[in-house]
Amino acid sequence: MRSTAAPSPRYKGRRSRSPGEARRAGAAPAPGSRHPLPAAMGRQSCSLVLAVALLSLSTTSARKCELQGLWKNELGSNMTLSALDAAGAFTGSYHTAVAATNKRIVVSPLKGAQQHPSTKGKVTFGFTVQWQFADSITVFVGQCFVDRQGKETLETTWLLREEVPSRRDSWKATRIGTNIFTRIK
Ligand code: BTN
Repeated sequence: MRSTAAPSPRYKGRRSRSPGEARRAGAAPAPGSRHPLPAAMGRQSCSLVLAVALLSLSTTSARKCELQGLWKNELGSNMTLSALDAAGAFTGSYHTAVAATNKRIVVSPLKGAQQHPSTKGKVTFGFTVQWQFADSITVFVGQCFVDRQGKETLETTWLLREEVPSRRDSWKATRIGTNIFTRIK
């Protein structure tokens, strides 16, 4: 049904708005005039797209720092690391390119743990390689980093303990070094 009520006095004889008032009230522009809203919206959506792109870039690279996979170091050694279990433990195999012994190199098992298993950022970890062709053992500790291009590196420090015949030789039984691993797969 149509209302028979008298129109509210504020609709009576409303003077026309100034351009500023019209803009503030969001009124439609006069025919032929340029509306400032589309330009402002364009700028806003551009910034939004840029922000989302930057955000996704940073989260992508942060997400990519995972230990699982196939890695190689600057000596040419390769290692494969498994997925983490719930406690952050992992296993793997190590194929060293170099050795302190003259024995034939054999792929050897490794066991390790990642600190804070649910994290995928710049995680710290450690693992032990139990050489199958020597009496020595090596422990690695390290941290995973990702550069701006998303390239991951494992920066590690290792200690290699070789078996010596007596305590008198203990002074020369431990080597220390660093290795940087990059992802193959
Ligand atoms: C040995 O020769 O006693 C066993 C092999 C040791 C290989 C070492 S472990 C640290 C360094 N990084 C490598 O990739 N290989 C060597």
